Amino acid sequence: MKTLVVINACVREAESRTLRIAEPVIAALGKSYNVVRYDLPQMDIVPLNPRLYAQRALGEVPAWARGAASAIAAADRILIAAPFWDMSFPAALKCFFEQTSLFDITFTDNGSTCVGLCNSPKVLYITTRGMDISTGDPREQATPYLMALGSLWNLGELTVISAQNMDYSTPEEIDAKISACVAEGMAVAEDW
Ligand SMILES: Cc1cc2nc3c(=O)[nH]c(=O)nc-3n(C[C@H](O)[C@H](O)[C@H](O)COP(=O)(O)O)c2cc1C
Repeated sequence: MKTLVVINACVREAESRTLRIAEPVIAALGKSYNVVRYDLPQMDIVPLNPRLYAQRALGEVPAWARGAASAIAAADRILIAAPFWDMSFPAALKCFFEQTSLFDITFTDNGSTCVGLCNSPKVLYITTRGMDISTGDPREQATPYLMALGSLWNLGELTVISAQNMDYSTPEEIDAKISACVAEGMAVAEDW
């Protein structure tokens, strides 16, 4: 069975609108993929600090980070669920990427530039935004980052499922937007 790596950066956990979209999509994909899941809110991931940086220079990397980087590199598909925070995504996700962007695991170099070592030809990014900001708006800085990291790691096509203006919608409107995104995700999952 092929492997799906899920990176869940929904800090509000049970309250998360983003997770309300992502969970049914993950469950559907779980029928055709072996799911390896990283729930970042439960992982207390820190940025690369002086101690971790010094250890990395000696070739010492936290076991969880090495394992996650290897899982990402080997994954057939990657799904990222993250709310829109401060015009991007939560810092926990950046810390996760910082810890798992590892030389000779997720990327290497060819003597003149960096070359990605990941295999996933498709990445699905699920998000919800408080303001009325669309994917690709210059104020939306999550997708450009994910595309740039995908270029470093050799990740393939990025599909974005997003709901917006969530903080200025009625509960009924929010439910309708979430249902529409779930339907979109289910359609993607069918032949993903
Ligand atoms: C810490 C924090 C930062 C946020 N920053 C932004 C922002 O910069 N722009 C925006 O449109 N919404 C912002 N929001 C609103 C969220 O994007 C919105 O409520 C989203 O639906 C939350 O997703 P969740 O329910 O999955 O946590 C922020 C919310 C929080 C809690």
